[in-house]
Amino acid sequence: MKQFPRSDLLNRLPKQFFASLVKKAGQYIEKGFDVINLGQGNPDQPTPDHIVSKLQEAATNPINHKYSPFQGFGYLKQAVADFYQREYGVKIHPEKEVAILFGGKAGLVELPQCLLNPGDNVLVPDPGYPDYWSGVAMAKAEMVTMPLKEENQFLPKYDEIADDVLEKAKLMFLNYPNNPTGVIATPDFFAETVELAEKYDICIVHDFAYGAIGFDGVKPTSFLQTKGAKEVGIEIYTLSKTYNMAGWRVAFAVGNESVISSLELLQDHLYVSLFGAVQEAAAMALTGPQDCVRELNQMYERRRNVLIEGLRSIGWNVTAPKGSFFAWLKVPQGFTSEEFANFLLEKAHIIVAPGIGFGTYGEGYVRVGLLSSEERLKEAVRRISSLEIFKK
Ligand SMILES: Cc1ncc(COP(=O)(O)O)c(C=O)c1O
Repeated sequence: MKQFPRSDLLNRLPKQFFASLVKKAGQYIEKGFDVINLGQGNPDQPTPDHIVSKLQEAATNPINHKYSPFQGFGYLKQAVADFYQREYGVKIHPEKEVAILFGGKAGLVELPQCLLNPGDNVLVPDPGYPDYWSGVAMAKAEMVTMPLKEENQFLPKYDEIADDVLEKAKLMFLNYPNNPTGVIATPDFFAETVELAEKYDICIVHDFAYGAIGFDGVKPTSFLQTKGAKEVGIEIYTLSKTYNMAGWRVAFAVGNESVISSLELLQDHLYVSLFGAVQEAAAMALTGPQDCVRELNQMYERRRNVLIEGLRSIGWNVTAPKGSFFAWLKVPQGFTSEEFANFLLEKAHIIVAPGIGFGTYGEGYVRVGLLSSEERLKEAVRRISSLEIFKK
């Protein structure tokens, strides 16, 4: 077969680090081992019934069999504005300040292409969600990493970024509650971010994928609750985690009007809009009963407690996440993150994500997902406790 060479664009894309681990794990599963997969970020619970019912009903409406309007239905944008008002007390103009997205991932990858020219600097967290890198590569922009260190509560230190880098920076990605570290941001940190953005003309993109998941009674802060935030940036909110709708591919961007209109312009060339029935179900999710969200949050908190207390009881001194559904655990001495992930797979048949896959500053950690039942998490702790290195 004739081989057609890939474009320069495809060749620029970052390598998928986790593919090799997934492949190796697959080999263990094929051999019949009972593998506990704590490596991925796929919600394990179903979408709440009232949202699914809305989709079923809306799927029979012929209006939804036609092309949806470009940029989405007005009722969904209004539902987004109502959601922000109700949850965060933030006023959003439904027509000018909301863009509907095919999942947060799509928006995150589109944004650099909307706002950057080749050579522009983009500030990204390290460790961070790898999709930020893909959009940057597509736009031929330059990625500058901001180390997230434990001693700084995994928040970037803006005074450690060189002035000339900030002068060239056009875009910054932030994400709290944070994947992979599980920390949440303080209102002071967001205020400092707005100040920096104003001074250097940087567009802030706050990825609020885990906005609904905060522990110990703390509700994560929206970036848009910060004074002046809408002047300097946007927030991306996905329904994937809040409502267990990862397969539905629906999210939205809210905030700065010029950024929203750039996103919509690019999307006009890529898509029409989401299936109308998905838009109706998304509006139902945002404005319907919210008990499901509270219950989900409590379930993740119980799982967190089982995991963290279990690991501490066997002598692994781990930090409890404050939000998101991930725990970020320091690997025992003598292992790199990749070696430890391989060790857990080989000796305990447990999959975790090696920190190095999220960036250089992820070295020394593994990410553990809270996406298995309490029983499975207890079983994981039991298997880990039987490993020689954890025997006292
Ligand atoms: C930090 C972060 N941002 C964005 C997303 C994208 O979510 P989706 O594309 O399902 O909206 C994820 C998904 O895992 C994530 O972890």
